[in-house]
Amino acid sequence: MKTREKQDDTRRSNRVVLVPMLLLCTLLFSGCANAQEQRIVRIGHNQSTNHPSHIGLVAFQEYIHDRLGDHYVVEVYPSELLGSQTDMVQLTQTGAIDFCIASNSILETFSKNYSIFNLPYLFSGQEVYHAAMDDPEITAPIFESTADAGFTAVTWLDAGTRNFYTINRPIYHPSDLKGLKIRVQQSPTNIEMMRLLGGSATPMGFGEVYTSLQSGIIDGAENNELALRDNGHGDICKYYSYDMHQMIPDLLIGNNAFLNQLSAEERKIFEDGFSLLNQVQREAWTKGVEDSVNNAIQNQGVEFIYPDTEPFRMAVLPLHASVLSKIPEIQAIYDRIQEYNLQELPGVDMEGI
Ligand code: GCU
Repeated sequence: MKTREKQDDTRRSNRVVLVPMLLLCTLLFSGCANAQEQRIVRIGHNQSTNHPSHIGLVAFQEYIHDRLGDHYVVEVYPSELLGSQTDMVQLTQTGAIDFCIASNSILETFSKNYSIFNLPYLFSGQEVYHAAMDDPEITAPIFESTADAGFTAVTWLDAGTRNFYTINRPIYHPSDLKGLKIRVQQSPTNIEMMRLLGGSATPMGFGEVYTSLQSGIIDGAENNELALRDNGHGDICKYYSYDMHQMIPDLLIGNNAFLNQLSAEERKIFEDGFSLLNQVQREAWTKGVEDSVNNAIQNQGVEFIYPDTEPFRMAVLPLHASVLSKIPEIQAIYDRIQEYNLQELPGVDMEGI
């Protein structure tokens, strides 16, 4: 059995044991103190332990340990040990776990306001993307829009630029996507984007992509470069095409009941911890992408393609107007992002990412 299949099996069997155990503990102790009066803070995510987000969470864990170690013990569960991202968002909603990292994509089914960051070619470049995501006037109305659903996004994490990668047909132009089944995240905006580009959208959870590529259920997927290395997609897909269609952040979301029971002093320490996570993750991101690209070229035989992005952009641009007409609440935020786009911050150097 191949290593990745073994890992998938282990992950599945761990999940079968871990999730019911967590739910049981939550019911028995309602998330409160253990013998030492320490509250366990559980955080789930779907990436490997090499991933920048895991590295950032370890820094967060240490930060909370150093400042609030008598009261809180942070436990980080990587690699979908607690289920898919959608499962983990639901566990965070109910308070079975306290935090998880979720892609902005899947959050649009919890609050439609999140659709804004799923729009293709929303940001003119990486610098604009970072500056806009650091602006609370842009993020707060979105991050707080799930308050009624029981959770709030407490910080954003870089998830780079999403690009198409395929098993055996290089993508130079949207017409190359015709007839190809491409995995997308489970979000109406992403499905519509694929329709406009002419490919056939196959929505599924991240953890299913490797085996679906391997068995030929799909012809390709779209993601940042880390998926090639960390998730082994570069073992199967030999063409990675920088069409740069989306910059979709990941978000750390927290259970509201947990956040609200923190004292003002504890809340401040947690907030500083979220900022630290954001900084450490961002710094680790650049190196993660670099290593992943080098590994893809040297060990996986992946060819990187730099197509003209304009035909892709023109094909999907109608999505902006259609989403804005359905969700007028996000128009002001969209306009503010356009102001950032006009500031001519340095664009993305595709060969340098
Ligand atoms: C990226 C992102 C994840 C997401 C994944 C996906 O890896 O960081 O949060 O789950 O894409 O495509 O599902």
